[in-house]
Amino acid sequence: MKVLLIGGGGREHALAWKLVQSARVDKLWVAPGNGGIAGETTVNGEPVECLPIGADDLPELAKFAREHQPELTVVGPDNPLAMGIVDLFKEHGLRIWGPNKEAAQFEASKVFAQDFMARHGIPTAKAGTFDFATAAKAFAMELNGRCVVKADGLALGKGVLICKSVEESEAAIDSVMIDREFGDAGNQVVIQEFLEGVEVSLHVLCDGRTAILFPTSQDHKRALDGDKGLNTGGMGTYSPAPFLSEEELQAVTRTVVDPWLTGCRAEGIDFCGMLYPGLMLTADGPRVLEFNARWGDPETQVYLMRLETDLVDLFEACIDRRLAEMDVHWKPEAAVCVVMASGGYPGSYEKSLPISGIEEAEAMEGVKVFHAGTEMDDDKLVTSGGRVLGVTALGETLLAARNTAYAAVEKIKFEGSHVRGDIAAKALED
Ligand code: AMP
Ligand code: GLY
Repeated sequence: MKVLLIGGGGREHALAWKLVQSARVDKLWVAPGNGGIAGETTVNGEPVECLPIGADDLPELAKFAREHQPELTVVGPDNPLAMGIVDLFKEHGLRIWGPNKEAAQFEASKVFAQDFMARHGIPTAKAGTFDFATAAKAFAMELNGRCVVKADGLALGKGVLICKSVEESEAAIDSVMIDREFGDAGNQVVIQEFLEGVEVSLHVLCDGRTAILFPTSQDHKRALDGDKGLNTGGMGTYSPAPFLSEEELQAVTRTVVDPWLTGCRAEGIDFCGMLYPGLMLTADGPRVLEFNARWGDPETQVYLMRLETDLVDLFEACIDRRLAEMDVHWKPEAAVCVVMASGGYPGSYEKSLPISGIEEAEAMEGVKVFHAGTEMDDDKLVTSGGRVLGVTALGETLLAARNTAYAAVEKIKFEGSHVRGDIAAKALED
């Protein structure tokens, strides 16, 4: 079948890599793709084709799909989902995987998600949602300023401000609601109490009727070792994460996933896609910090290294609402992904720097290098983004996977490259 994949980051490279392993895929287009995606081939040796169409360019994407009739379209990033790409493709009779515009609000509107959790008794932080700065400040004051101020809308992952004092919370509310630092995304805010604990990522594949919980994983969002430095898109992941036992995971299913799905059905929200709750494991139990309505990046990289089930089969079962019939199989091995970032990321950084050593890294057993910010400059691979590569390894144990991933990182060079040295380290303590 012919498949169209939307997006061009590390997550999409992992999705493309897994999709072309399916004997069912004989043509894969990726819009816009990246330097690594362009190097993949289908089982029949057909090269993956990257298209010069941006992931947010809905009219051009729909035009391409109408002309070329992919039998399946898969959406990676949040933005096209929030813009309603699924609704648009369906209007044209095209088969597409991902939540529709209404369901994508779980990520696109933090106010929607927070109010939904309140309506359905899903454990979350003590929180309020506000249209006006004065009311928001009064609530932040009740929390003694120890709170997290979140702009309602999508803000490139930057609209979340952690505050430790009343002064900081007032400044944060002003910057979002009065100075409008994140534009219309700050028309409303969510204010949550600041929670302490270990953060884990959940992934729940859902067809609107059945929800399948993936194994646990953990991201490392801060730029520097020891969770210091600025927030990033994610500097590295691993799976499984040992902080939730099998029983605790079952409990999360009962307290988070079941009421979420029941709530969606009761409200007529048809969620067909991936729900990715960010969870804080607090002393009082797991609390949902946020919902995303897509695969995590770089969580996808470790999940797809471990997934045994054909990904096309999974997407199709989701679209056809047959998830209840599916068995999802995972490799027992652990996977670790270490992100190699441009020097200076998440601040400003240089681009177009040549990259070497990827072949040597991939010659190592169990290693796959997923590209995020790379492109081809003539026949040279160069950097083109903040997160450049996700060097991912599978191993018998988490320690083995981690050692292999870091050994592979050693082989890859580009000027100014930066990695965190402590990916998965906490999971290996004691
Ligand atoms: P979000 O986009 O809502 O997940 O927030 C981004 C990051 O901010 C999360 O991954 C957490 O590290 C942190 N964060 C969000 N909400 C809270 C909270 N209520 N307490 C502590 N940290 C939080
Ligand atoms: N892993 C962070 C994100 O995908 O938002």
